[in-house]
Amino acid sequence: MFKSIRWKFIVVYFLLVFIAMVIVGVFIIEKFEEYHINQITDTMEERVKSIIKISSAIQSDSWEEVKEDIQNTIRQVPLGNTERLYIIINTDIPSIIASNNSKAVGENAYEFKALNSKLIIDALKGKKVDAILPSLDKLNGKDKHLAYPVYDEVGKIKGLLYITSDLTYVYDTIDESKSILTKATLLALFITVFLGFFIAKSITGPINDVTIKAEKMAKGDFNQKVEVKSDDEIGQLASMFNYLTEKLNKTLSEVYREKSKMDTIFTYMADGVIAVNTQGNILHANPIALSIFNLTYKDIESKKFDDIFSPLNEKITLQYLKKEGKWEGNELVEVGSEIYRAKYAPFKNDKNQIGGFIVVFQDVTEQQKLENMRKEFVANVSHELKTPITTIKSYAETLLNGAIEDRDLAIQFLSVINSECDRMGRIVKDLLQLSNLDFKQTKWKIKSLSLKKVLEDAYMKMKMAAEEKKQSLNLSVEENIPNIYADKDGIEQVILNIISNAIKYTPDKGKIDIIARKREDKAVITVKDNGIGIPKEDLKRIFERFYRVDKARSRALGGTGLGLSIAKQIAEAHNGDIKIRSEYNKGTEVDIILPVEDSV
Ligand SMILES: Nc1ncnc2c1ncn2[C@@H]1O[C@H](COP(=O)(O)OP(=O)(O)OP(=O)(O)O)[C@@H](O)[C@H]1O
Ligand SMILES: [Mg+2]
Repeated sequence: MFKSIRWKFIVVYFLLVFIAMVIVGVFIIEKFEEYHINQITDTMEERVKSIIKISSAIQSDSWEEVKEDIQNTIRQVPLGNTERLYIIINTDIPSIIASNNSKAVGENAYEFKALNSKLIIDALKGKKVDAILPSLDKLNGKDKHLAYPVYDEVGKIKGLLYITSDLTYVYDTIDESKSILTKATLLALFITVFLGFFIAKSITGPINDVTIKAEKMAKGDFNQKVEVKSDDEIGQLASMFNYLTEKLNKTLSEVYREKSKMDTIFTYMADGVIAVNTQGNILHANPIALSIFNLTYKDIESKKFDDIFSPLNEKITLQYLKKEGKWEGNELVEVGSEIYRAKYAPFKNDKNQIGGFIVVFQDVTEQQKLENMRKEFVANVSHELKTPITTIKSYAETLLNGAIEDRDLAIQFLSVINSECDRMGRIVKDLLQLSNLDFKQTKWKIKSLSLKKVLEDAYMKMKMAAEEKKQSLNLSVEENIPNIYADKDGIEQVILNIISNAIKYTPDKGKIDIIARKREDKAVITVKDNGIGIPKEDLKRIFERFYRVDKARSRALGGTGLGLSIAKQIAEAHNGDIKIRSEYNKGTEVDIILPVEDSV
């Protein structure tokens, strides 16, 4: 409590007033005493001088003879109650010849207790001397003594006038004054403490207010405002505080807004982000980063970045970056079946040095897949075209080398060359069609078509091929199936492709059913066979370009592996789809789904 400004203020006030009162008191008392003593001294001196002046007896040179007269003079002189006058004659042993103190007359001046022998000795040397001496008859009382030498005509000291005066009343007055001053001091101190309390309160009140509100601010409540009651320094402090609060509030909410914005970006961005300091500790990792690398917040706190990432890719570890001195770049990181591009860049610390680096992990699995597919496709195209070219070239060379002479052999060779050319032609035609479908260059002649009619035409076209393999090919179309709305040639190509696949990949004497019905707002054409089927692992890749389950077999059957991808793309261009269900060695079911006329 006594540490507070209020109490310090009161104590300082108290001490100041106390010291001032004590100094003033001592000074006044001293001056008062000096004034009174001087006054008494002057009066005594005046009295002595006037006695000498008016008394002829004292003026006479032979005091011994006029003793009685001198004594009479003394009786006549009006002396104060407490004043004692002694006439001392200067003989070998100075004695008192007259006095208003009857006991003193005739006594040896040196030995008379009421007088001071030292003063007498000094005065007899020709000096007027005075002193304040302790009173004989009053305890603690004081008397003023004055010894005044008197000269005869030839200038010799004939005696002394020795006067004493009791100073009791002076000291009583001084004591009285001291008591008044003490009381005044006490009263002043009381008022000081009282006023000091209120003045201090008026000063410390607003400061306390600021302190309390600053404490609340420290706890996070920034909506604090202090009342500005004056325009003095404290008022300025209060308004400065308010200004500061407002500024702080504004800045903090801006910072908070920015932070939450950043947090949201970090949390919801599709890429994983990890920040690492130069000690290799992970400073921050967003939820995506945690899920990519299957980490928990605990792992982040306990593990070093390099421990986690060196098995994945050495080139993004802190150790490697430090060694190379290259803090910016990108690397691929494979996690299971996913591929991430790790882009890293340094960040600076408050001393403008490298404080660590941030790595952003971007999922490039799809991109990478597409890239691989593209490369695979180019390789496939080249391979598919190279095979017939090689065959043609070797047969042509053999012919040139003489085989042409053998007519039967030449015809056989030329027919191989012819069929390989057809094959190349087919591949190029299919690729061209795919490219047109990719770039949406195909012009569709969309119109209402009777599905029944389309299917019957296709059935007729494929019948021969099925008969050749002694397969039973059956068509069943639901009654009242609605028309489809499509391009006739496109849809026919799709249906023929699927039926021809069923025939191709079903052994002799197999059974192929073509069933058409309406399901919800779609027409579904199911081509069902009991052929070789497709293994499960190949099923998901079956629509990829050039993908064939058994390349050699398919090629032997004249397939290029483009048929299904073309069919699917045509179906999709008609807002339809193709779905395949298959069981290896049991059979395959292909659904061609097309929108019916009403729903278009
Ligand atoms: N009904 C089916 N039964 C079993 N396998 C099939 C069937 N349909 C397709 N496949 C498999 O899917 C692969 C891809 O078929 P796709 O029609 O795309 O090519 P293809 O028939 O080999 O050649 P083409 O381009 O001449 O049609 C085939 O090679 C075959 O392995
Ligand atoms: Mg096919």
